Amino acid sequence: MKIAIGISGASGSIYAKKIIEFLDKNHELFVAISETAKKIFSYEIGITFDNFAKNFNFKQFNEKDFYSPIASGSFKIDTYIIIPCSMKTLSAIANGYADTLITRCADVAIKQKRKLILLPRETPFSAIHLENMLKLANLGASIIVPSPAFYHKPQTIDDLVNFIVGKVLDELDIEHEFYKPWGVNN
Ligand SMILES: Cc1cc2nc3c(=O)[nH]c(=O)nc-3n(C[C@H](O)[C@H](O)[C@H](O)COP(=O)(O)O)c2cc1C
Repeated sequence: MKIAIGISGASGSIYAKKIIEFLDKNHELFVAISETAKKIFSYEIGITFDNFAKNFNFKQFNEKDFYSPIASGSFKIDTYIIIPCSMKTLSAIANGYADTLITRCADVAIKQKRKLILLPRETPFSAIHLENMLKLANLGASIIVPSPAFYHKPQTIDDLVNFIVGKVLDELDIEHEFYKPWGVNN
C-alpha cells in the first residue's frame, strides 16, 4: 500500500514512531512532519526525527513542501494517517484550511474520498475540538482517540501504546499482533 503519514505537534510521538517502524517494512510510506512535531519527537523519544528516519526507507517531507507528490490528488494514496493529530491541525482540516502539507493531505483525502485516519490528542476536549471531530467523522474520517484499554491487562507503557497502534492497523485491515483480540487467551 501507499500510505501518507502526517505527524503533527501533539504529545504522542511514540505512536508515530511505532506505526512507522511496523509499516515501513512492507509498505511505501510518505511522511510529513511539522516543525513542532519534530521538537516534540526529540523531547519525548530522545532522538531527533531526522536521525530516526535514517534507519528507514520512507520519504520525508517538511510541513511546507507543497511540491511533494502527496500534496496532489493526482498522486494515488491508499490511506492518510495523522498520528498524533493536534487540535490546531484537526481544526484546520475540519475547516478546509490547507496551510501545511499535513492539512493539505487531509484535504486531498476528503475531496478524493480516500481513507483518512486521525489520532487527535488532547485532554480535556473542548466543545470546539469535539465539534471538529464530529464534522470529520461525518465526512468519513476514522477518529481513533489514543485512549488505551485495560481489559487486556497491560503491564508496560509499550503494552498501552501497542493497543492503540493495533487499532490503527485494524482500520487498515493489516494483520498484526500488537494486541490480542478479546476472547483470545482471556
Ligand atoms: C511538548 C508539547 C506538547 C503538546 N501537546 C499537544 C497535544 O497533546 N495536543 C494539542 O492539540 N497540542 C499540543 N501542543 C501544542 C501544539 O504543538 C501547537 O498547537 C502547534 O501549533 C501545533 O501545530 P501543528 O499541528 O502544525 O504541529 C503541544 C506543544 C508542545 C510544545
